[in-house]
Amino acid sequence: MASNLVSVIGGRPAEGAPAGLVSSPNPSRLADVVAEVALADAATFAAACAAAKRAQPSWADVPAPVRGRAAGAIGRIVEANKESLARLVTRELGKPYPEALGEVQEIIDTCDFFLGEGRRLYGQTVPSEMPDKQLFTFRVPVGAVAVLTAGNFPVAVPSWYLIPALVAGNTVVWKPAEYAAASAMALFELIQAAGLPDGVLNIVFAEGEEAFGGLELGLQAGTIDKIGFTGSTAVGARIGELAGRHLQSPCLELGGKNPMVVTPSADIELAVQGALFSGFGTAGQRCTSLGTLIVHESVHDEFLARLTAAVSSAAIGDPAQDVLYGPMLAQKFADRFEEYLGWIQPHHKVLGSSGTGKISGASPRAGFVGNPEEGIFYHPTIVDGVRPGDALFREETFGPLVGVTTYASIDDAIELANAPGYGLSSCIYTNDPREVFRFRRGISAGMVSVNNSTSGAEAHLPFGGNGKSGNGSRQSGVWVLDQFTRWQAMNWDYSGHLQKAQMDVAELAADLDFRLAT
Ligand code: UN1
Repeated sequence: MASNLVSVIGGRPAEGAPAGLVSSPNPSRLADVVAEVALADAATFAAACAAAKRAQPSWADVPAPVRGRAAGAIGRIVEANKESLARLVTRELGKPYPEALGEVQEIIDTCDFFLGEGRRLYGQTVPSEMPDKQLFTFRVPVGAVAVLTAGNFPVAVPSWYLIPALVAGNTVVWKPAEYAAASAMALFELIQAAGLPDGVLNIVFAEGEEAFGGLELGLQAGTIDKIGFTGSTAVGARIGELAGRHLQSPCLELGGKNPMVVTPSADIELAVQGALFSGFGTAGQRCTSLGTLIVHESVHDEFLARLTAAVSSAAIGDPAQDVLYGPMLAQKFADRFEEYLGWIQPHHKVLGSSGTGKISGASPRAGFVGNPEEGIFYHPTIVDGVRPGDALFREETFGPLVGVTTYASIDDAIELANAPGYGLSSCIYTNDPREVFRFRRGISAGMVSVNNSTSGAEAHLPFGGNGKSGNGSRQSGVWVLDQFTRWQAMNWDYSGHLQKAQMDVAELAADLDFRLAT
C-alpha cells in the first residue's frame, strides 16, 4: 500500500502540493507504489528555512550533552526499528536486504559516535602573551542548515549530516531525493521520536529546481547558514557557485570515478571479490563504486578471466532474496545508464553477462532471481580495453559497469588513477609496502583502501573527496564538526588596565650571539 507523504515544517504537515504529486515506486516491482508524495515549491522550501532559523537559538540553548543524548536516543530508536527500516529501503530503492541492514547500522554507528561528542565539543584554553589575561576558543553552531541528499544511501548518508548538525546546535531543513521519500520520512519520524522540539528538524519534499530556487530565496533572506549536498558533480558545482555568491562554503559530497589498482603481487582472488562488491554491489550506484580497474599487464588476463567468471555467475534480481544486486534506484538512473552504455566503442571488449542493457524476456540473464519484467534490472557490464581518451574512462558511469585498462609501472598506474579528475575513493591490491605508500602519496583521492575495495567506509573516518568529487569538505567522525561549527575566539583581560597585544609584551633578554666554547 502506498503512503501519502507531505513535507513537515515547524512540526506541522505542509498543506497542498504546490509543485504537484510524484509517486515513488518499488524499482524491483514497479506496480508496487511505495509512496505518493506532495511536492513543495521554492517558496515552501524557503518557508522551512525560515522556520529552522527561528527555532535555532533555543535549540542552541539546549546543553550540548543533552543534544548528544538525543543522538543516543535516536540510535536506540533506529536500532529497535532496524529490520523494518531496512525492509523499506529494500522495497523503495531495491538495495539487497543485507546491504540495507548495513546502511541502517551506519546510522546507529553515527549516533553512537555523536552521543559522546555532545559531552566533548571541546574548546581550548590558550595562554595569553600578557599577564592577567586568558584566551579561549569555543565551537559555535553555524545556524540553520539546508541538507539535500541522494537516494542511493537514503538514510545513512543523510544521518551523516543530520546527527552532527543537530548535536552541534544547528537546526535543519532536509530535502531527501523524491524517489527515496518513504525511507526519508521513516528516518524523519524515528528522529522526531527522540523528542526534538518543533522546527529543529524539517523535511521538505521537492524536485531539484524548486529546491535550488528555495536555496536562493533562503540565502537571500539570510535563513540558510550552511548547505550540505550529496549528489552529482554538475549539481554540486551549481550549488557551490550559488553558495559562493553568499560567501558560504557548502559541504559537498559528489561523484567518483574510483580506481582499483591490481599489482603483480596482489592476491588475485581477493581483488576479484573486491571488484565484484564495489563494481556491482548496489548495482554500481554508490558514490564509492568502482570505476576503472587498472591492472598490471602481467596479471591482466588471469584477473579478467576470474572476474568475468565471478560476474557472469553472480545472482541478480529480487533484492529481498540472496543476490549480488537488485534494480536501478529509479527510472531516471536507468535512462542515464543507457547513455553510458552508448559510450562503448568498437575497440572495447564487453564481458560479464549474456547481454548488455536492460534484463528482459528478450534479453535474459541466466539465473535471474525473480521476474525481470517487473522492475528495472540491468546486465552487469565489464568493458575491457578502456583508454584515457574514452568517455567511459573519464566520466562517472553510475550503474553496473566497470572499465578495465592495463599499466606497466606503478607511476603509470597512479597517473591513470588520477586522470579523470575525481578524487573520492581509491584502492590498491598489493603485498609490496613500497607500492602501498607510493600509491597513498600519489593518489588524489580523499580515501584510500589497501587490499580492500573502494566501498565500505566506516562511519567514524573522514569521508569526502577532492577535485570533481567535492570541495575538500569531510563528513563523519570529529572532522564533520568543522562543517557544522565555527570557531569563536575569546580573550578576557582581567588586569584592570589596557594591555596592548604585540606592544605591551614582556621580553626576556636573550643573547642570540651565544656560542659553545668548543
Ligand atoms: C555513498 O555512496 O554516498 O563506503 C556513501 C561505502 C558506504 C557509504 C557510501 N559506507 O560504500
